[in-house]
Amino acid sequence: MAHESTYQPNTAIERWLDDRLPIVRIMHDQFQTFPTPRNLNYWWTFGGILTFCLAVQLITGIVLAMHYIPSDKLAFDSVEHIMRDVNWGWLLRYTHAVGASMFFFAAYVHMFRGLYYGSYKAPREILWILGVLIILVMIATAFMGYSLVWGQMSFWAVTVITNLFSSLDSIISGLGTAIVQWIWGGYSVSGATLTRLFSLHYLFPFVIAGLVVLHIWALHVPGNNNPTGIEVKSSSDAIPFHPYYTVKDAYALALFAMLFAWFVFYAPNYLGHPDNYIPANPLQTPPHIVPEWYFLPFYAILRAIPSKLMGVTAMFAAIFVLFLAPWLDTSKVRSTKYRPIYKWFFWLFVITCLALGYLGAKPPEGWYLVFARVFTFLYFAHFLIIMPIVGVIERPRGMPGSITEAVLGRGRTGGGAGAEAGGAAAAGPETR
Ligand code: HEM
Repeated sequence: MAHESTYQPNTAIERWLDDRLPIVRIMHDQFQTFPTPRNLNYWWTFGGILTFCLAVQLITGIVLAMHYIPSDKLAFDSVEHIMRDVNWGWLLRYTHAVGASMFFFAAYVHMFRGLYYGSYKAPREILWILGVLIILVMIATAFMGYSLVWGQMSFWAVTVITNLFSSLDSIISGLGTAIVQWIWGGYSVSGATLTRLFSLHYLFPFVIAGLVVLHIWALHVPGNNNPTGIEVKSSSDAIPFHPYYTVKDAYALALFAMLFAWFVFYAPNYLGHPDNYIPANPLQTPPHIVPEWYFLPFYAILRAIPSKLMGVTAMFAAIFVLFLAPWLDTSKVRSTKYRPIYKWFFWLFVITCLALGYLGAKPPEGWYLVFARVFTFLYFAHFLIIMPIVGVIERPRGMPGSITEAVLGRGRTGGGAGAEAGGAAAAGPETR
């Protein structure tokens, strides 16, 4: 959001730097005085929490990599060496492993927040698309990171997922097999596969960091959405980011850190699978191959469809359909708060995702399979049928004229410099 810079370089050094690289000015304008809607609730603290998670993964990961050995012979033992011999190694490893779960938990909350409040709608489409790209790279990164332990689950997860590409054989004979062997660096998952997974697992978090910079840039052009979905119209609708949201974010982060620490110190293996403490054995397939909890909904979709190629396509489509959300949603109103019909479908969608997560952990047979198919249908129906149709037929509830009015009540603008503009705010639904 373009706003006048209020940065005043006080010392000669500050002035010298400001004339050459106005980095302090940018930080000041974007993270201190940045005008932010006054009504952001706690769901808006997850962006900051996610930034924290990324930093934790980068720092712990870089130190872990100093002790980890990416070789099929030594990987598993090097992880145990980190756990037992390296000073504070257990803390580093558990923080990184639990951190992956916490990162996905925060990302999913952040995404559902975006869906509920229509933050993906114009003019924030690029911001949303960058978010979907981030979750894609996060998925690839977490998958590769899990493989590095080289336990039974690691090994067989890599085997199952890389083998998915072989389904391309049904389109062009031999194509899928060629791709899979190219990925493996041989004729099976092996040490060659592990070294490339390690290399990319180290690289991708920096790609995520780059995407996050673009994400926040794309956020700061239109500015934040907010629980009403109405744009900031006057200065009384907004408050400076610091101290209001720095304090709110810090408080939420402290609560999040407590939950994080509880898992690290009291239940570090709760979210993992015990079979990953068995060294990888290419000659013995585990009875059930299940991914980490954050992949379960996608895994359920993959297995719900009888054809391998269609299953793989549906699994990827489950993410790609998110890219289209800004255009599939035809509603003139952003926030679900003012959408009496869509509100029900939103919660049905949340239940659908949770149900798919549950079913992803169950064997694909009997009633589990039937329900997995029903919920897979509901997942796609949400985007491809519900979003376009409900937006057209629904009559939104009456909306406040402005953010200030939503907070203080009708006829109040909260005074301040923007009082006159706030009073003139249109009372109709937001029509972007
Ligand atoms: C590393 C992961 C991510 C980081 C560090 C991150 C960071 C942030 C931050 C700091 C904000 C502003 C504060 C807030 O609204 O919570 C934000 C907003 C937003 N993010 Fe993310 N984000 C990440 C992933 C995602 C993903 C996966 C999506 C969606 C697929 C997404 C979609 C959005 C949207 C739509 C907004 C605007 C929210 C609004 O103003 O209403 N982000 N993000």
